[in-house]
Amino acid sequence: MTDRALGRQQAHAALDFFEDQHPPAGDFLRDALDGFAATPKRVPPVYFYDAKGSGLFDQITDLEEYYVTRTELSILDSIMPELAERAGPGAVVVEPGSGSSVKIRKLLDGLDNPAGYLGLDISKTHLINAVADLAESYADVSVGAVCADFTGGLNIDHLPLPEGRRVIFFPGSTVGNFEPDAARNLLKGFRNGMRSGDAVLIGADRVKDEARLVAAYDDAEGVTAQFNLNLINRINRELDGTIDAGALKHLAIWNSEKSRIEMHLEAKRDMRFAISGEHFEMKKGERIHTENSHKFTLASFSTLAESAGFTVTKTWSDAENLFTLFWLEPCWEA
Ligand code: TRP
Repeated sequence: MTDRALGRQQAHAALDFFEDQHPPAGDFLRDALDGFAATPKRVPPVYFYDAKGSGLFDQITDLEEYYVTRTELSILDSIMPELAERAGPGAVVVEPGSGSSVKIRKLLDGLDNPAGYLGLDISKTHLINAVADLAESYADVSVGAVCADFTGGLNIDHLPLPEGRRVIFFPGSTVGNFEPDAARNLLKGFRNGMRSGDAVLIGADRVKDEARLVAAYDDAEGVTAQFNLNLINRINRELDGTIDAGALKHLAIWNSEKSRIEMHLEAKRDMRFAISGEHFEMKKGERIHTENSHKFTLASFSTLAESAGFTVTKTWSDAENLFTLFWLEPCWEA
């Protein structure tokens, strides 16, 4: 057995259960060719997060301009006793998109004897590593993992989870990366299968001063620009692309009508290139749309949550109202 396979087997062994729901792997080549043939050009944001991109994103979360992570962590710190009381003893934390270990550890440390943790992620390698680390640290918590695409709903009813109130934890501003209809479907997917007493703890980034929003997605050091351009470098490396990344400029634009920051890459000159033998061109000023990050008011996020079958029971924000954590409970009225 290779070291890697052995490592994975040990990681598996640390878990109380692991299930592979075999989410269909994205077809990077198909998606890139379709995206470059479309008007405007686009690349799906899932492809940001290879090893290099995930590393750059970690750097983004430490940037002075990127207030999101820091603010959410400080809110979590200040509300932990109240969260522990709301969740009660023996809660089971469900984390779709097993992400920052700092956040989940804060939650597990602060809750009152949590009984279980279930991580779901589309990337098996990332998932097993993240969840095995948790299993090692939290010997008294039953830790399981499911490799799945959680945007299609949480298929977890048959799993050997401990009894106890489930808290679905969806921090960051990930919900903002979905278009409104997709965000509603995502939340409906969480809502399905929830029982009375279960809750969702979810983060949402707030509408604020435009300059502050733009800076968070266009930092002075250019880390976000590198993150955005990593998509192009990946296409060049993995899909036999010939795109001159140096001729593309990172743009972060506030779209007030849609209440979102948009990320684009703009051609600084006329360009011609190939991807896997297919030829494309861009005119100077033409853009590739790479990501959206929707920003919410308390009212707009509440409307979204309600349209997915939830009641907002409680919200917590920082003193500047930069970011808000929402506690959502299923609404049982017809
Ligand atoms: N969920 C993060 C956000 O919307 C993702 C993110 C941060 C991001 N910075 C980015 C995505 C830059 C693309 C480009 O805040």
